[in-house]
Amino acid sequence: MDIVQTLEESGTVPSPSEATVPALNARPYDYQKFLSNIVDVYDSTIIRAYCKARFKIININILQMLALCLRGKKRVLDVGCGFGLFGCYFSALYPEISYTGYDLNEARVAQANRAAKKLGLGNAQFKVGDARDLSINDEFDAILMVDLLHHIDDQAKVRLLETCRGHLSERGRLIVKDVTTHPFAKIAFTWALDVLMTRGLDMWYWDEERFYKTLTPHFSRVEMYPIVDWLPYPHVIYLCENIPFPESMTA
Ligand SMILES: C[S@@+](CC[C@H](N)C(=O)[O-])C[C@H]1O[C@@H](n2cnc3c(N)ncnc32)[C@H](O)[C@@H]1O
Repeated sequence: MDIVQTLEESGTVPSPSEATVPALNARPYDYQKFLSNIVDVYDSTIIRAYCKARFKIININILQMLALCLRGKKRVLDVGCGFGLFGCYFSALYPEISYTGYDLNEARVAQANRAAKKLGLGNAQFKVGDARDLSINDEFDAILMVDLLHHIDDQAKVRLLETCRGHLSERGRLIVKDVTTHPFAKIAFTWALDVLMTRGLDMWYWDEERFYKTLTPHFSRVEMYPIVDWLPYPHVIYLCENIPFPESMTA
């Protein structure tokens, strides 16, 4: 199933020009339909329910912020890609990108590849890999991690962030979406849900200060965007880049 075509068949969007396939959101589109088209390709009812919940938790505003962070970036790496839900979303949104996702969970990776195939996304691939010891050779223009880092211990986190820094292109971006440690009610709810999902008690949550201290030696610019919404998750997006300062500022 081609996701853009599916929307076109439903009369939601006009046909793209034959020569190019512009980004879907470069014209009016029904994002609810777009998200459901992605969720619908997953085989199992439980996974579809999980994906729907995931699109509620990482709501359209957060997705659009992440999409803006990825804009103009060609080679994208997603560490801890899960079922490839957001990978399929970004690959469909930006047909020009080449998207590679890694996850520890083989079954999730298999589901992710199946979903990408069913959606006709030739620009997305998903592989098995452990973020605590990630072996990658390629260079990327953007590296994304959505709710991965609190699942890996502090030392592994530091190692992974260093690895990512070493595989970013000159103007590459590291984009992290994770949870912070406050307010107490939100992090307590998040922890309970994480325990339920992972069936383990250990989570390694970092607050903004800790992220900032770890990221600033690697990046000249670390921006933090706390997400303010009614949901019980203390989301923060970190956008990290090496932007050369103008000569006038360094003289
Ligand atoms: C909360 S889920 C997030 C999945 C996806 N990024 C999303 O937002 O839907 C965390 C994911 O991290 C993966 N994960 C946990 N530890 C990992 C590790 N050491 N290496 C790679 N993936 C890992 C899990 O298998 C799971 O798919």
